[in-house]
Amino acid sequence: MSRGLFITLEGVDGAGKSTHIDWMAERFRARGRVVRCTREPGGTPLGERLRALLLNEAMHPDTEALLMFAARREHLVRVIEPALAAGEVVISDRFTDASFAYQCGGRGLPEARLEVLESWVQGALQPDLTLLFDVDHEIAQARRDAVRDPDRFEREDPQFHARVRAAYLRRAERFPERIRRVDANQPVEAVRRQIETLIAPWL
Ligand code: TMP
Repeated sequence: MSRGLFITLEGVDGAGKSTHIDWMAERFRARGRVVRCTREPGGTPLGERLRALLLNEAMHPDTEALLMFAARREHLVRVIEPALAAGEVVISDRFTDASFAYQCGGRGLPEARLEVLESWVQGALQPDLTLLFDVDHEIAQARRDAVRDPDRFEREDPQFHARVRAAYLRRAERFPERIRRVDANQPVEAVRRQIETLIAPWL
């Protein structure tokens, strides 16, 4: 079966990952690949409605995790899996690593509970490559402080974001082949050079 390429971008709020998506997509398009840029939570009409709830409504951490994975199931079935089956490059701004970082690391849910959802929703499917944009607490906090209308996650205290970052770094240690750390403290051009090196084998 022809299988495209699945790349995900991760990091704490304020890590600056979203700045690089269009540029990455162009790198693949320049090589003749069809690229689909998408995001989580979201990526489908229903997923975007769930996103609005997730980012704005107070809810129990279990509800939050379940809605994240409900949006993900819809995203996989309607967007990601068909695109991969057609041989496309899918670049998603966040995926399941975010659930382990935010809902387990940030909110304290047990990982075993999310592993059940992970296997239900995505089976064995994992990204081919995950870029973890890692940035010092102070820089990320300054960027979050500058957001004019912060969402429920951006409003969380620095300890929450420190737990999220630590959980991301633990996952990168656990899956070193897939999750590659990008030092996002550097200027945009230097960050791009790191990305270029990491995606080169896939171009
Ligand atoms: P964004 O700001 O990168 O668009 O992501 C929206 C927020 O959703 C972000 O603060 C992280 C959060 N999130 C989770 O808590 N769990 C998840 O599984 C995903 C995909 C996002």
